[in-house]
Amino acid sequence: MRTVSVQKVVTETELVKTFYFEDKICASTEPGQFIMVWIPGVDEIPLSVSSINGDLASVTVKEVGEATRALNNMKEGEIIGVRGPFGTHYKIVGENALVVGGGVGTAPLMLLTSKLLEKRVKTTVIEGAKTQSELLFVDQLAKLQQKNSFETIYTTDDGSYGTKGLATDAAEKVLSSGRVDAVYVCGNETMTVKVYKLTEKYKTPLQASLERFMYCAIGICGSCVIGKYRVCKDGPVFHQTQLKEVESELGKLKRDLKGEKVSL
Ligand SMILES: Cc1cc2nc3c(=O)[nH]c(=O)nc-3n(C[C@H](O)[C@H](O)[C@H](O)COP(=O)(O)OP(=O)(O)OC[C@H]3O[C@@H](n4cnc5c(N)ncnc54)[C@H](O)[C@@H]3O)c2cc1C
Ligand code: FES
Repeated sequence: MRTVSVQKVVTETELVKTFYFEDKICASTEPGQFIMVWIPGVDEIPLSVSSINGDLASVTVKEVGEATRALNNMKEGEIIGVRGPFGTHYKIVGENALVVGGGVGTAPLMLLTSKLLEKRVKTTVIEGAKTQSELLFVDQLAKLQQKNSFETIYTTDDGSYGTKGLATDAAEKVLSSGRVDAVYVCGNETMTVKVYKLTEKYKTPLQASLERFMYCAIGICGSCVIGKYRVCKDGPVFHQTQLKEVESELGKLKRDLKGEKVSL
């Protein structure tokens, strides 16, 4: 593990903050890979890298429990530990991409979007949230649009911003046009399952990032198992054939702190 000091903290929404730190190795992360972040005296948790600029990397964190709350209370200059990057990453395929993100799942997709644009892939980004104040990275995406041509579609459940409805409804509209040849998704598993079913219907290749409890992050402890795969090593990014193999657990089961299967 390497210790780094927090260089900058940006408040994104009421519960989400982005932490910037300098680490050459984290700055080599591929889109979709994750790092383990140690919050001294509290816990170590898996987080996606949300941006890279030179040796500066960032993680974007939603407060959901003890560790994420402790991290989100940290200030510039405080020390965290980082391990990784770990796991598989999104591989750029095709020439017409659809990127679908929900909530803090949008974090790894920011890095992916930059890479797609670098490679001149025609890109549509769909981001869904419950309400306007929970949408992430709207300004960053608008900044990217000043230099690159790509489409953004925002959806909110209450219609307070963008189109009223679900990100998956917007995804179906784009997919039914027949122009998309690769779909990339990261968000809650209910959304991921819906996108998975849509890509089966429209016969379009999918890469999806999954979340499970993680401790070792290197394939030893078994806490992150889904079907025959370990999410930390074989994932977190899985392609369609692999998702089909774990269909009976996808969106339904995970392992709890004792390693027992429980409902998601
Ligand atoms: C590969 C990967 C990438 C992730 N990237 C991000 C990210 O970029 N930003 C972000 O905010 N969150 C991300 N997460 C989720 C983040 O790791 C959990 O929210 C965090 O571990 C919760 O810790 P806690 O102590 O605050 O919450 P806890 O009190 O432990 O739990 C609160 C809730 O969070 C979920 N959770 C707890 N621990 C984990 C865990 N180790 N893995 C997955 N879910 C967990 C549980 O379902 C529980 O309902 C990622 C998870 C994985 C596996
Ligand atoms: S976190 Fe230990 S095997 Fe995946």
